[in-house]
Amino acid sequence: MNISIFGLGYVGAVTAGCLAGKGHRIVGVDVSPAKVESLNLGLAPIIEPGLPELLKGARDDGRLRATTRCDEALRDTEVSIVCVGTPSSISGALDLSFVRGVLQEMGDCLRRTPKRHTLVLRSTMLPGSTESLIGELLGDLERSGMLSVYYYPEFLRESTAVADFEHPSLAVVGSRDAARPAEELMKSLFGVDTAVVNWPTAEMIKYACNAFHATKITFANEVGRLGKQLSIDSRIVMDLLCRDTKLNLSPYYMKPGNPFGGSCLPKDVRALTHRARLEGVSLPLMESLLGSNERHLQSLLGLIMESGASEIVILGLSFKSNTDDLRESSMVEVVQTLLGRGYPVRVFDPALNLAALVGSNKRVIDTKMPHIASLLRGDLASALGKGGLVVVAQKCASIEDLKRHLTPAHSVIDVNGWKELQALPVKCQGFCW
Ligand SMILES: NC(=O)c1ccc[n+]([C@@H]2O[C@H](COP(=O)([O-])OP(=O)(O)OC[C@H]3O[C@@H](n4cnc5c(N)ncnc54)[C@H](O)[C@@H]3O)[C@@H](O)[C@H]2O)c1
Repeated sequence: MNISIFGLGYVGAVTAGCLAGKGHRIVGVDVSPAKVESLNLGLAPIIEPGLPELLKGARDDGRLRATTRCDEALRDTEVSIVCVGTPSSISGALDLSFVRGVLQEMGDCLRRTPKRHTLVLRSTMLPGSTESLIGELLGDLERSGMLSVYYYPEFLRESTAVADFEHPSLAVVGSRDAARPAEELMKSLFGVDTAVVNWPTAEMIKYACNAFHATKITFANEVGRLGKQLSIDSRIVMDLLCRDTKLNLSPYYMKPGNPFGGSCLPKDVRALTHRARLEGVSLPLMESLLGSNERHLQSLLGLIMESGASEIVILGLSFKSNTDDLRESSMVEVVQTLLGRGYPVRVFDPALNLAALVGSNKRVIDTKMPHIASLLRGDLASALGKGGLVVVAQKCASIEDLKRHLTPAHSVIDVNGWKELQALPVKCQGFCW
């Protein structure tokens, strides 16, 4: 294919070299004459292992040239990839002025000399950016069918960028339309199988990944700081932690849903951060966990209140499914708050047998909810009653039973994203998060 690449920095130069290496014909575009000249000489404008060879080979084979002129690049290509910078402004806000500049110029060129064109945005942009920039600057061309627009985030790391480009850790493309053309385009351009989602989801995944990477590094460093103070080799600790691919390095605990609770996580985070404070070691990330969890609980409560429902049904009271452990269960807090605000509440949790509760678990009931017996219903039908807002905190009833007993007078908050719930004929407040 004939491809323009706008922005010849770390991402753009690597993209140019690697796509030329796959046999595409590339026209690089940059506002910097020095970078353009460098590419025209087949020289890498940045230090990146493997890139000089790719660029030189492509230049020598006549598959790579560069220009400062947008119109010249668009004239000779059918696809444009935008890799210009999206730096932080002084306030911390994302600065989209370089992307805006490219799209504006592109729009002017395509209106002056109409031709069918495909635009692939790769610059990292916050959710909603593609929608608003395209609407503002290229909406007429997109609506007329002359321009197709995709958002395809880049996941390469500097210093291993060429290898990362060839074997991306993740490939996700955002498309306004059907999945098939997007998948086929990405395959023919980049040679990879790509998950297709909408624009904002593709924009968000890039930020979620980078925030997760930052969280991992910060977490490991906090373990390291506390370990050093306690004369523990935290590299051994983290190495062992990483050997657990069931709970630690796995999709487990990685789904938005209930706040965490139970007899261990809150208590142990509290104890660890307390000890760190005594040792004079600052652990801002770990210190923030309980506060963030509390915010999450408040968000759930907010959603319940905003629903306008006058009676509430809670499905699942214990801190997770198939246990009767009520200690630090977020749903106990939810029920208590709702009762305090005067809502009638009914609870269904088949794992709970009040008569069998003992020890600290029983104390939770005795101190926090002594009247819980009056809220608990032994069967789903009487818990659901004839209407109300159903907060599905656990899958403690089958979809078939819910289907049988939910009525149009019910609405549902689906805390954990239970897909089948969406298909039921009740008003769903949507996924909670
Ligand atoms: N660097 C990375 O490792 C990396 C990885 C993944 C994603 N990203 C994202 O990719 C984007 C590009 O990052 P980068 O590190 O390559 O940036 P960079 O600053 O190295 O390069 C950006 C280039 O765009 C050029 N440019 C600016 N305005 C232009 C215009 N109107 N027309 C043509 N060129 C123009 C600049 O002159 C510069 O050469 C950013 O959004 C970044 O967040 C970067």
